[in-house]
Amino acid sequence: MIKKLDKHLVLIGMMASGKSTIGKNMSEILNTFFYDIDYLVEKSENKTIAELFKTKGEEYFRELEYEKTREILNKTIPSIISLGGGAFINPRIRDIMKNTTTVWLKVDISEIIKRVKLNNNRPLLYGKNNEEIGKIYIEREKYYSMAKIHFNCNNKSIKTCVTGILSIIEDH
Ligand code: S3P
Repeated sequence: MIKKLDKHLVLIGMMASGKSTIGKNMSEILNTFFYDIDYLVEKSENKTIAELFKTKGEEYFRELEYEKTREILNKTIPSIISLGGGAFINPRIRDIMKNTTTVWLKVDISEIIKRVKLNNNRPLLYGKNNEEIGKIYIEREKYYSMAKIHFNCNNKSIKTCVTGILSIIEDH
């Protein structure tokens, strides 16, 4: 298993795919920093993502998301970064990811749907039925698949995902 990162490790994937939890766990094992872009955006505006979408709109959120991602990528200590589910769809964000190890956490849409129903801080899903959520997933897959590593998280515990990803990275 890898002991030390030589570049930023960026977790991407659909909402509720486990990016923040897995990222935090990995950073503890590697004893490095963990940055959650959604959290940093919320903190900088002192608003939840849902409030931000409501008061300033998605475009404003996407700009902040880009700025925060860029700011964190500029840090020199290799760290673990969790992106929001829509970030990697943005070509400007994909563009600044070139020198990082991007990992797509793949989770079946049926599992994603179960998980997102438990949390209402995801404005993009407000009023959407399962079919519409599935459509977002299908539209996004082609972008997520541009990640350097694809890791299947279906039916796996957080611990299995964390150790699995860390051992794959060593081979890269
Ligand atoms: C979004 C995902 C969210 C958050 C925002 C938009 C998306 O992050 O950035 O609600 O477009 O998929 P998570 O993937 O952490 O839920």
